[in-house]
Amino acid sequence: MGELRANGIVFDIYDRLNSVLTERPRVGIVMGSGLESNLKDFQSQIEIELKDVEGYPKHTVKEHSGKLLFGKLAEVPTVIFMGRLHYYEGYSMDEVIIPMRLAGLLGVEVMILTNSAGAINCEYGVGDFVLIEDHISLFVPNCLRGTNDDRFGTRFPDMTEVYDKELIGKAEEIAKQGDIKTHRGVYVQLSGPSFETAAEIRMLRTLGADVVGMSTVCEAICCRHMGVKVCAISCVSNMATGINNQKQSYLDVKNTAESVSDKFAFLINGLVSSFK
Ligand code: HPA
Repeated sequence: MGELRANGIVFDIYDRLNSVLTERPRVGIVMGSGLESNLKDFQSQIEIELKDVEGYPKHTVKEHSGKLLFGKLAEVPTVIFMGRLHYYEGYSMDEVIIPMRLAGLLGVEVMILTNSAGAINCEYGVGDFVLIEDHISLFVPNCLRGTNDDRFGTRFPDMTEVYDKELIGKAEEIAKQGDIKTHRGVYVQLSGPSFETAAEIRMLRTLGADVVGMSTVCEAICCRHMGVKVCAISCVSNMATGINNQKQSYLDVKNTAESVSDKFAFLINGLVSSFK
């Protein structure tokens, strides 16, 4: 899809949403694979099935419910994207970032991105959380490629601090309160959908990556293009290929993510509460 058409869809959906929303969300949350449940304290006000939204790309990952929830978390107006669009589903990058563009237009100031990731760093363990402090995006197309839409941001956005340091600090404090183990690390986005080979993981380790996944970085770049602050958190769902002897399976990824979803909810609740 051309980026201008994708932006046309964004503005069109925005107009329709705008007419039903009574309050603008200040915080956006993307719930990744296996992490969709358990934000029990979220008070949902409007629930939209994305498959019914004309023009919105269809979610093809079975486990992603593809819902957009508007409501309050810790009294803060929040929009939650249940599931996300991935490049490996066949969408172009400008389609993958449609949810982020929508969030930006709706007035979201802070985006919390969650995902499941494979640990390249041997010090990490399954079930640990990684506060992403930097990324490597060079293995997938840049989501800002193509004509720049100046309504969103500048042609050449700075990427010095993609992941807000203050938010990382806050997340660490909250994690400590909840006895949740965290690391700070570098996330590398690959296109997927195949998992990596052991040789690829060795290469990525040499390049300085700590965790690997198939999402998130393009969303973070898009948010920074619009001036939206980003906090991105990975749950280590598995050790990356070759780090131990286990074979990779999506089911394991999903099961681990589900098993830590209470901790994720605690972290997210704490973070959003701090925006009151
Ligand atoms: N590789 C890529 N993406 C992933 C992984 C992995 O090991 N685990 C969860 N998402």
